[in-house]
Amino acid sequence: MLALRCLVTGAAGFIGSNLVDRLLAEGHDVVGVDDLSHGKLSNLEEARRVGESGARFSFVKADITESGFPDVVASANPDVVFHLAAQMDVRVSVRDPMKDARLNVLGTINVLEASRAAGVRKVLFTSSGGSIYGEPEHLPVSERVGVDPHSPYAASKVCGEIYLGTYRHLYGLQSTSLALSNVYGPRQDPHGEAGVVAIFCSTLLAGGQGKIFGDGTAVRDYVFVDDVVDAFVRASGDAGNGRRFNIGTGVGTSVRELHTAIARAAGAPDEPAFADARLGELQAITLDVSSARHGIGWEPFTTLEQGVARTLDWVRRSSQHE
Ligand SMILES: NC(=O)c1ccc[n+]([C@@H]2O[C@H](COP(=O)([O-])OP(=O)(O)OC[C@H]3O[C@@H](n4cnc5c(N)ncnc54)[C@H](O)[C@@H]3O)[C@@H](O)[C@H]2O)c1
Repeated sequence: MLALRCLVTGAAGFIGSNLVDRLLAEGHDVVGVDDLSHGKLSNLEEARRVGESGARFSFVKADITESGFPDVVASANPDVVFHLAAQMDVRVSVRDPMKDARLNVLGTINVLEASRAAGVRKVLFTSSGGSIYGEPEHLPVSERVGVDPHSPYAASKVCGEIYLGTYRHLYGLQSTSLALSNVYGPRQDPHGEAGVVAIFCSTLLAGGQGKIFGDGTAVRDYVFVDDVVDAFVRASGDAGNGRRFNIGTGVGTSVRELHTAIARAAGAPDEPAFADARLGELQAITLDVSSARHGIGWEPFTTLEQGVARTLDWVRRSSQHE
């Protein structure tokens, strides 16, 4: 593949920083943008080291919602924009839907405006397969099923997708939306509310007791971050223009099963505590990922066992550095 000039929003976050590392490893030039509201510069340590030697990586601290953001995109002059910056907590979106919309809807419009003005070829958008379909009747759910957002977060992601279409029609700006299921892996914030894999890994390694909200039967589709990053790379060409692809595994795992898998790999007791279920959480979601296979030649390649082992390794290594 020809070397690309890439701009990644949300570059200091969990998925964004993993994507930056992969793009650099493939020899692409990368400008990473993040306002560091949630992401960490330490997530970009590897990328910055590459930058020192090959000068292929640079980081810009900027807010995607601000009027100066288009200048950042213009000076980066990217072929492809990977748009991952977002408010990504469903519960925050319920508490403060205006904040969610400002970042996820207006921020996305600003990214699209900036991309069009800078002559970007393609924008990759990060949607949420775990929330935009609501509680679908049949699982795994395919892209053909209509969206049914149950939260402001899900609504803001659908809205972003609609704007992608508008910019494609108005200006011929190519775009693909990747609707991710529950992503886990190195650099996921174990201190946050989301990211049950990171939370179980760090709690169990520290000798604590994992906490399950509800009775443990809630089912999710856990996909490893390297597999997700691979989907972004595969969607960065012309294939898949104007489409949404579900990115997950199609395999459902209950929270109780997840706890068992992590406890086994960590050598910890499989004895979680149970707390009241949290309001508004879906009971079950898994994604049909066959469209991504046909459309961009992608399929998941990391098993839950392998992914959990790699996440545990990372939590062990990072807790030694704290
Ligand atoms: N983690 C998941 O399971 C999951 C699932 C579906 C979709 N997604 C989507 O993937 C994307 C990345 O999520 P993540 O899990 O890496 O979250 P993250 O919070 O680690 O990354 C988001 C990054 O965006 C940055 N950011 C937030 N507001 C910004 C702004 N106004 N300007 C510039 N940067 C800003 C944050 O500082 C953070 O580094 C998000 O769009 C999220 O909605 C994530």
